[in-house]
Amino acid sequence: MNAFATGVGRAHAALFGWLALMAIVAPASALGDVSGLSKMDFGKTKDGQAVELYTLKNGKITVKIATYGATVVSIEAPDKNGHVDDVTLGFDSLEGYLGEHPYFGATVGRVANRIAKGKFTLDGKDYSLAINNPPNTLHGGVKGFNRVVWKAEPVQSPAGPSVRMTYVSPDGQEGYPGKMTTSVTFTVTANDELRIEYKATTDKATPINLSNHTYFNLGGGSSDSSILDHELTLAASHYTPVDDTLIPTGAIAPVVGTPVDFTKATSIGARIAAMTGDPGGYDHNFALDSKTGALAFGARVYDPKTGRVLEMTTTEPGVQFYSGNFLDGTNVGKKGRVYKKHHGLCLEAQHFPDSIHHANFPNAVLKPGETYTQTTVYKFSTR
Ligand code: BGC
Repeated sequence: MNAFATGVGRAHAALFGWLALMAIVAPASALGDVSGLSKMDFGKTKDGQAVELYTLKNGKITVKIATYGATVVSIEAPDKNGHVDDVTLGFDSLEGYLGEHPYFGATVGRVANRIAKGKFTLDGKDYSLAINNPPNTLHGGVKGFNRVVWKAEPVQSPAGPSVRMTYVSPDGQEGYPGKMTTSVTFTVTANDELRIEYKATTDKATPINLSNHTYFNLGGGSSDSSILDHELTLAASHYTPVDDTLIPTGAIAPVVGTPVDFTKATSIGARIAAMTGDPGGYDHNFALDSKTGALAFGARVYDPKTGRVLEMTTTEPGVQFYSGNFLDGTNVGKKGRVYKKHHGLCLEAQHFPDSIHHANFPNAVLKPGETYTQTTVYKFSTR
């Protein structure tokens, strides 16, 4: 009896040992392998490609990400009273994302932000891109990384449920040189963070600038209010002033004494009237103070009404703070909400806009043999 029991015990021990080993070394081949991760069908693109929607749940937050545009569809986070709500703008179904919208939640590339006049010269060759934001190119062109279906694979990560999305951009796509292979890994950690890790390689030198274009409103989905009451802190004593087409002049100017000084927490609406022009508001690249390339504090947003806090850390040299100036009520989003001016804000970690034309900006050209990497973390808490 004893011997039999011992034999069973050994068999169990061996089985558990083997399972434990598999959990450590095996790639997550099936969704069941990754706890906190699930997947559902999200519909089909107009040309019949299937789109999946992944749900990543850990700590107090739940994040949904679609393979169309590697798009962050929702982030649910509690307020100071524990009431959970979605703090991002977007749509309830794929239909909305397939239509016209200003990059809600999307992964933007191959070059996020603007390239002046859609033209550049690299390695002695001239390149022309689509002018999709006259007179410039914006966010990778007409069919940027936000408009393609990414291949998704769940990843076993000690940090939490994780999904890696991959996209291979062919040589010449949208006018850019080189076949570029990009992966974006989304992980939700037990510390209530959405961690986004980017990697890219190319077979020809190409400009590159990857970012995420989530619009946040810490008031949550039920709030119909703007983000003007949110308080913003930016770890940026400098910014890159722009011309009236939002192309940097080339200067890296101090923020001190200007309405773009957010080095101390200031409500977004406090000085926004001074940001004149059409359509007015903030739409600037801030040069982050940390120059190490290591993960460093970039921005904090606090909503006094709900007590929600969003903190962004990044390895990138810049962040585009965009106060949703072009939202004009055209987009009807989640639960029928009409997205009006300043109803959402973006904190787009990035290299500086139009870097290809400014030798004094951090390098934003990827060459064969090099690997582009970026890590940006959005952490949610309350106070
Ligand atoms: C740009 C804005 C633009 C918005 C939506 C932001 O990254 O800076 O100018 O309107 O994206 O396209």
